[in-house]
Amino acid sequence: MDTTIASLIGEERFDLTIRGGRIVTDGRVIEGDLGVRDGRIAAIGGSLPPGLRDVDATGRWVLPGGIDSHCHVEQRSGMGMMCADDFYSATVSAAFGGTTTIVPFAAQHRGMSVPEVLADYSQRAAEKAVIDYGFHLILANPDATTLSQDLPAAIRDGITSLKVYMTYDRMKLEDIELLDVLALARAEGALVMVHAENNDMIRWIAQRLIDRGHTAPKFHGVAHDPLAETEAAYRAIALARLVDVPLLLVHVAGGDTVEVIRQAQLLGANVLAESCPQYLFLTADDMDRPGLEGAMFCCSPPARDADAQEAIWRGLIDGTLATYSSDHAPYRFDETGKLPKGDATTFKEMANGVPGIELRMPLLFSEGFLKGRIDIHQFVALTATNHAKLYGLAPRKGAIALGADADIAVWNAERETTITAAMLHDNAGYTPYEGRTIQGWPEVVVSRGRVVVEDNTLHAERGSGAYLRRGAPDLPRRAPVPGTDRQNRSHGRVLKALIGLGEDTP
Ligand code: URP
Ligand code: ZN
Ligand code: ZN
Repeated sequence: MDTTIASLIGEERFDLTIRGGRIVTDGRVIEGDLGVRDGRIAAIGGSLPPGLRDVDATGRWVLPGGIDSHCHVEQRSGMGMMCADDFYSATVSAAFGGTTTIVPFAAQHRGMSVPEVLADYSQRAAEKAVIDYGFHLILANPDATTLSQDLPAAIRDGITSLKVYMTYDRMKLEDIELLDVLALARAEGALVMVHAENNDMIRWIAQRLIDRGHTAPKFHGVAHDPLAETEAAYRAIALARLVDVPLLLVHVAGGDTVEVIRQAQLLGANVLAESCPQYLFLTADDMDRPGLEGAMFCCSPPARDADAQEAIWRGLIDGTLATYSSDHAPYRFDETGKLPKGDATTFKEMANGVPGIELRMPLLFSEGFLKGRIDIHQFVALTATNHAKLYGLAPRKGAIALGADADIAVWNAERETTITAAMLHDNAGYTPYEGRTIQGWPEVVVSRGRVVVEDNTLHAERGSGAYLRRGAPDLPRRAPVPGTDRQNRSHGRVLKALIGLGEDTP
């Protein structure tokens, strides 16, 4: 279009143009301009006329804004502690790190009904969020009313994924309850996310450690033995295969667990999995710091060793692991979080979790993409597109495509940053990545066409983020492999009837 004419016809102008960047779309890199109108992507590539507002992206990467599908915001944890971020601080922090959508948890604890939990989280988020958000439901109380009425209603109303725990005394479901939830998810088309750790293994080791006076943070890593994760992951997969439903294992930490997932996928199981920055960039040694400082690095499952880090990288690279999320679980290094009993706090009493909502993408951009472990399309898939598909946000979110929401981050790959807690916008008060130098930063961040971060300044109003009613998960289908037990048994008449595949009950 001729520039002069375009500027004379006001309504033809784009609300925003991002000019001269390297735009990453689904499978392609396009050099040129990107035009935004009414909050959506309206033109990709070529040379566009000036918009009502222009952002110079010369020499920059223009990528989809990230989707963080695992973060804890204004939520009471499995151990009963309130995390340090509310929906304002968490979404501001996410935006500064290039994330434009979050899917945190609305957490049911025992005794709470699903409708009351969802109403409570919806109200708090609507008042504060500066970027778009949806919710997964944490399900701790799968009683008859929840399973027969409240959960199906929530799923039909856009809460199309739920998280269940196999550990934490206050949250864990028994296997028989997990089967009920999985069968319901199958019937309603929801995705079940599982925190897989064997509760009894952890309790058994922890009790023996405490009895012998081994209370320091590093013993958190000993109590949460890698086998506790691997055993529970295998069991969760088996339960899901029994009722023939997809499953997503969250925050995968260990090399054996990656292998169990890979093998299950090879057998045709619809198993998906996620990992997080802490499993790429931290190890158990970080929990072994003077005094109680190691508490700042305690999360569940804990970070392991260099071999496990490599296994997680391999899983992300070969697609065994589909998403890379923060599992942002911010707790302050004081009596509200990490040190409820001050200096006398044992590893069993400190809040589990590490902050990471702002650094999730910059860490992977620097250490994954710029160091050549993954290409730019893998970076986009792991941080945005795969989340959008699995959690029912595609095609509106997660990709640069015509008609999609204009959620965009403009990355300067040259910029070097030495990480400090002071530069971050969350309320944890510390970062596990203090002092590391990384390369690349999202300097301009756009949410639904609004420039929300520019010049290291926030330009978004409290409460301007929108709630996302999510659709059905778009999951890869893997067929059972011929000659395997599952292929031979899973279509048996009796089982089919039991899991509601439409045949008569035997
Ligand atoms: O340690 C962690 N990951 N804390 C957050 C809660 C959870 O289980 O995801
Ligand atoms: Zn978890
Ligand atoms: Zn979590």
